[in-house]
Amino acid sequence: MSAPTSNRQGTGVFSPTRAQISARTLRTDRWWQSPLIVDLGFAAFVIYATVRAFLQNNYYVPAYHYLTPFYSPCVSKGCVPEASHFWPQFLPDVWWLPYAALSLPFLLLFRLTCYYYRGAYYRSVWQSPTACAVAEPHATYTGETRLPLIIQNTHRYFFYIAGIISVINTYDAIIAFHSDKTASGFGFGLGNIILLVNVIMLWVYTLSCHSCRHVTGGRLKHFSKHPVRYWIWTQVSRLNTRHKLYAWITLGTLMLTDFYIMLVASGTISDLRFVG
Ligand code: FES
Repeated sequence: MSAPTSNRQGTGVFSPTRAQISARTLRTDRWWQSPLIVDLGFAAFVIYATVRAFLQNNYYVPAYHYLTPFYSPCVSKGCVPEASHFWPQFLPDVWWLPYAALSLPFLLLFRLTCYYYRGAYYRSVWQSPTACAVAEPHATYTGETRLPLIIQNTHRYFFYIAGIISVINTYDAIIAFHSDKTASGFGFGLGNIILLVNVIMLWVYTLSCHSCRHVTGGRLKHFSKHPVRYWIWTQVSRLNTRHKLYAWITLGTLMLTDFYIMLVASGTISDLRFVG
């Protein structure tokens, strides 16, 4: 890895032995458009998620048991007791520690080490390369062979942890079928549909992970000897072809879910109820 530099003479396509073309690229299309859109998308999510994670309010709707995924599991002493379910409240209630500080760092690392996101931010943020056949602003390149980028090889461990967090999100979505107004305690509203769609998409994104494809069957040599794992690998591979799409959809569903629960919890809007 090297810092961007303006001293690009004599390296890459500007080497003395290459055809002498002084332009950075001869492409005439808008090759900068895609990295720009990716940068704007990442910035929007990072800003929204950071602000919401630290706000420490409007994250839970007691009447319907709606809990935003940005506060799950709620393990801070500052959480309202019902929002914690069976989780112990052991984190100190201080402004600089998000209530879900147990899960958020791992989810961040899961996405940061994701193969798709790496491809995206290596291009759009680190400009390595900004686009195919566009000369880099870097004079040297070491790829992922050194610290810190060699740590990207730990992605599978974050995949395992993300699987556990998806189970927690699934639990949250199930117990949200609640209403204080019915005798049985069962209730169903628009918030349930939003929570459910979000958790299904989180599962689809998590299971379409390249590490998931590897551990389920990708590292096998003889598929004929492992029919079950071959079948699982086939299904994961089908999901994996759209991993990029799921990465973006889940950023959107996470923000939408949190935003809706924030509006209901703050009393800005009321939940559209079908039962209870
Ligand atoms: S490769 Fe994207 S989540 Fe694993």
